[in-house]
Amino acid sequence: MEHSINIITREFKADPFPFYALMRAEKPVCCVTVPGMGKAWLVTRYDDVAAVLKDSRFAKNPLNASEQPWLPAFAKPLQRNMLDLDEPDHARLRTLVHKAFTPAMVERLQERIQRIADHLLDAVEAKGSMDLVRAYALPLPLTVIVELLGIPGQDRDRFHRWSKALVKTPTRLNMVFALPSLMAFMRYLRQLFRQLRSAPQEGLLTALVQVEEAGDRLSEDELLAMAFLLLIAGHETTVNLISSGTLALLQYPDQLERLRADPSLIKSAVEELLRYTNPLETTTPRYALEETTVADVTIPRGALVLAAVASANRDATQFDDPDRLDITRQANRHLAFGLGAHFCLGAPLARLEGQIAINTIVHRLPHLRLAVPVESLRWRATPVLRGLEALPVRW
Ligand code: HEM
Repeated sequence: MEHSINIITREFKADPFPFYALMRAEKPVCCVTVPGMGKAWLVTRYDDVAAVLKDSRFAKNPLNASEQPWLPAFAKPLQRNMLDLDEPDHARLRTLVHKAFTPAMVERLQERIQRIADHLLDAVEAKGSMDLVRAYALPLPLTVIVELLGIPGQDRDRFHRWSKALVKTPTRLNMVFALPSLMAFMRYLRQLFRQLRSAPQEGLLTALVQVEEAGDRLSEDELLAMAFLLLIAGHETTVNLISSGTLALLQYPDQLERLRADPSLIKSAVEELLRYTNPLETTTPRYALEETTVADVTIPRGALVLAAVASANRDATQFDDPDRLDITRQANRHLAFGLGAHFCLGAPLARLEGQIAINTIVHRLPHLRLAVPVESLRWRATPVLRGLEALPVRW
């Protein structure tokens, strides 16, 4: 079985949890194939996942790896993003934007996010059906991150087309097809930076452009990589929380009814939906700086390691009855946002978006139901992320 399991097929994505349960029981560190990445060491138990994420011997910078992922030369600047870097660069970059994502700052977006959610539902309510991904779960976080960065609204849809091409399976062939999107995206951002330098606007990008101009805290490559990371991380994940989260509630009508009856449950409900659905199935790659032992398995120096947070989040040593959705679950120490130095910067924003989006749809559309059999739903064949291609619903 070594290396033979491909963990990013649509079939695997639809229900990876039996495989993870088997691995936790029998092979807590196993080798899998990830197209475009090659062989990866997959860590599946809660305690081991938490330990790997806190262990600086598992580095993020691919320059520390023995086999480096293929990237065309023009795209190399994008590697200068905080998620692909180790200390001290990582902390320097994270500090530059950290303030914009604190719970207090994010709380100020509450009314605006609510208006976006209501506006999206106003547009479809009379129709009686929609693809929830396209009409609701995607445009909501995309609009929020675009506005937060201060990017002209009319460019929103172009971003998603580009970013969708980029998060596809990173096979060489897909990479080749994605190159025009990548180039267009980078060209667009560089042009925007030029505009913002001469005519500053509201928003985080203008602030970053000014930091870049002011001195040595942010290089031009890092500015580009930062904008790129925030745009992609800011919506490709939350779309999955809102869509897979709504699907999970539709599959557990008793939980859905509880939430309808008591909206104050939304905070614990969203934590449980994060744990249960796993918008990120594994973390992004880490590389072993030295030979390291995890769960009695020796991981060689330079090996690519993936921490399966989706598996950790269903580990019975940490969660009672882990395969059951319980929106009132207490002490829910899930790892959906990762752990350690790279813990999700956008967690407060993602939580607020998830809470508003799910509460709004559940209360405004009391007859919401799936419009197709659940088995016919298609999951995206992407590494790292876990999400639906489309979610047809009616009411
Ligand atoms: C439900 C939604 C989200 C989930 C489940 C999620 C999950 C994660 C996880 C697991 C990581 C760590 C990856 C690793 O260690 O390899 C991460 C990092 C990150 N996330 Fe999120 N995320 C979400 C939404 C957001 C949003 C809305 C933003 C807004 C900009 C964001 C920005 C980031 C950034 C910048 C990092 C890198 C942090 C660092 O390297 O220090 N995320 N996210």
